[in-house]
Amino acid sequence: MADQDAVKEKDAPIKAPGLKGVVALESELSSIDGEKGELIYRGYTIEDLAEHATYEEVVYLLWNGELPTASELEALQHRLRANRALPDEVLDILRNAPASAHPMAVLRTAVSALSFFDDEAEVMEEEANRRKATRLLAAMPTIIAAFDRLRKDQEPVAPLDEGSMAYNFLYMLNGEKPGEAAERTFDVCLVLHADHGLNASTFTSRVIGSTLSDMYSAVSGAIGALKGPLHGGANREVMRMLLDIDEKGADPAEYVRERLANKEKVMGFGHRVYTTMDPRAAILRDMVEDLSEEKNQRKWYDYSLAIMNTMIGDKDINPNVDFFSASTYYMLGLDPDLFTPIFALSRTAGWTAHLLEQWSDNRLIRPRAEYVGPKGKTFVPVKDR
Ligand code: COA
Repeated sequence: MADQDAVKEKDAPIKAPGLKGVVALESELSSIDGEKGELIYRGYTIEDLAEHATYEEVVYLLWNGELPTASELEALQHRLRANRALPDEVLDILRNAPASAHPMAVLRTAVSALSFFDDEAEVMEEEANRRKATRLLAAMPTIIAAFDRLRKDQEPVAPLDEGSMAYNFLYMLNGEKPGEAAERTFDVCLVLHADHGLNASTFTSRVIGSTLSDMYSAVSGAIGALKGPLHGGANREVMRMLLDIDEKGADPAEYVRERLANKEKVMGFGHRVYTTMDPRAAILRDMVEDLSEEKNQRKWYDYSLAIMNTMIGDKDINPNVDFFSASTYYMLGLDPDLFTPIFALSRTAGWTAHLLEQWSDNRLIRPRAEYVGPKGKTFVPVKDR
């Protein structure tokens, strides 16, 4: 009897709306301490990595568990560079997309279409999945930059066979080679967004992966999840707000208070896990301060700080990664609707690392719903309804 009770107890459904506080799986990839405001990737703090690592080193770390040696890093860079070009058919899809299309919708479609031209798309061996992760990550910047140029009636710029991912992306976007400072700033942004525990898009990718569906399906689904304004889409909304404040000549604190009074959310604030400052936001805040001095655009930093102080002072809600990344990208000359695709490009490292981890010890992810609909109804034929 006692044994039966134990079994019942073990299998009893646990209700957790929004899955808040639920630990769904074990991961060796990244860890968040929401109370202390700490983030680590495979044992290294985000501060340490942001200061010292390149994005490619972080990619290697996430995929392999250790930082690369010089020759391992060179080999990864070589593989990534070799896979930058898109199949012509995928470029044609970008050419045929309307200029008004949401860049995340374009990215989602192009990533899905890449699978048609990958002979290993359906091969689920680990080495094949590692090769696909490399191909997918390498193609991301090319898709985003090519669509951005096409929608502006410019020809896509072919990827270079040199330089970092950050360097090549900025080059393909603008058609000119970026300066060292822009490349480094962008590279740090990529480092900061590479992985973040079991966030909504990573969870999506693992749910899809857990059915033993393929990597392209899982990453396309993750892009769909990231697109939403409660997740990666928030950075675009933050910039909309800053531009609106600027255009109206509004007082940032009053602007935000009005939003709160209307029960509207202020994008770029709040987090499911952090109860204190997101450490990535702290790093980006310093970057925004430096950039706004350097570019003589101090207003973005001033508005941001006034909004942050109001949100903390009035609501005790802290900024998340999207708040300060918005003005960072803006001052790098990037269009606001590219901010979320850039997040996706960086997070592809994390999504694919999580998929490799998921498949190394797979179990179907399948929670339950509490049924709250009616019961006991009797079918009535259509003629009698
Ligand atoms: N602006 C205003 N109020 C906010 C807020 C924000 N950005 N974030 C949270 N709150 C408030 C909620 O209104 C709620 O208040 P209530 O208890 O009085 O109803 C409370 O804080 C809890 O928020 P809730 O949305 O229930 O928390 P959550 O854990 O479900 O959601 C987020 C987390 C991230 C979805 C949420 O903070 C949010 O929508 N933020 C804005 C979008 C954003 O920046 N997303 C990027 C995340 S990295």
